[in-house]
Amino acid sequence: MQSPPSLVVVLGTGGTIAGTAAHAGDNVGYSAAQIGAAQLLAAIPALARQPIEVEQIAQVDSKDMGFAVWRALAAAAERHLARPEVGAIVVTHGTDTAEETAYFLQRVLAPSKPVVLVAAMRPSTSLQADGPQNLLDAMTVAREPGARGVVVVLAGQVHGGLDLRKVHTYRLDAFGSGDAGVLAQVEEGRLRRHRDWPAGVAMGLARLPRDVAQWPVVEIVTSHSESRGVLVRALRDAGVHGIVVAATGNGSLHHALEAALVDAQAAGVAVLRCTRTLGGGLIDAVPPVLPSAGALTPVQARIELMLQLLAKRAA
Ligand code: SIN
Repeated sequence: MQSPPSLVVVLGTGGTIAGTAAHAGDNVGYSAAQIGAAQLLAAIPALARQPIEVEQIAQVDSKDMGFAVWRALAAAAERHLARPEVGAIVVTHGTDTAEETAYFLQRVLAPSKPVVLVAAMRPSTSLQADGPQNLLDAMTVAREPGARGVVVVLAGQVHGGLDLRKVHTYRLDAFGSGDAGVLAQVEEGRLRRHRDWPAGVAMGLARLPRDVAQWPVVEIVTSHSESRGVLVRALRDAGVHGIVVAATGNGSLHHALEAALVDAQAAGVAVLRCTRTLGGGLIDAVPPVLPSAGALTPVQARIELMLQLLAKRAA
């Protein structure tokens, strides 16, 4: 396969990979998003002579990720991907919401070149920081001939952007891909691939209003014992555009919550049902009253519903 163009553009957004702690032995009491992506790269001698450009898009702890950063990130990625000399984008990101950003970027851009999110579980000051190796691995994926789509690299594993979920609070391999399984592994600068690169039809950046206050408001509620529908009614009163419900098991809902959701849907609020279980997807025996998000996780379903509402507005 032909080698891709060699320039890689690194877009910095923050995260633990860019975090610092007061003590090198501290892997949890640190501040995320403290040093720039250029500084992270400069600390890796193996990357010194590689053609890399850096643009700092944001500097956030990814728990605070929001529409404004997403739009700026998607716009920067699209701009750089259109340059013939650019072979790939690498995005430094926090682990906490990487699954949301990856899903968003894949659905909006469905890029024909690789967009590789990379994160770390330990801050840059750690005695055994994982960020530098993860960044090196991300560069390996970025330069892989034939690579495409949004993928995420952590602890030597490559996850498809539509499959990613954070599955552990502390372990270095904190990400999983659910039933899909990891897309590839990076081993000593080589890729061992198990399945195809992410593909799909791009929604397109043009459908996302520049003014992010115009983006639909979609919230998540969970079905649980003694659910009452109070939150659904409050959300409806607050004027949300959509509600994702994390249902029990194969999509069942507490009857009181279900009644409130059916009322909300009848009143014009878009509702999407997914499962709160950690694996599998919804299999409906009969056409459901409340539509199914299939195997999407609640946070993925929220983005999906938001994008569907935006697409409807533009139609
Ligand atoms: C963050 O998500 O920005 C902080 C936590 C992490 O990156 O692991």
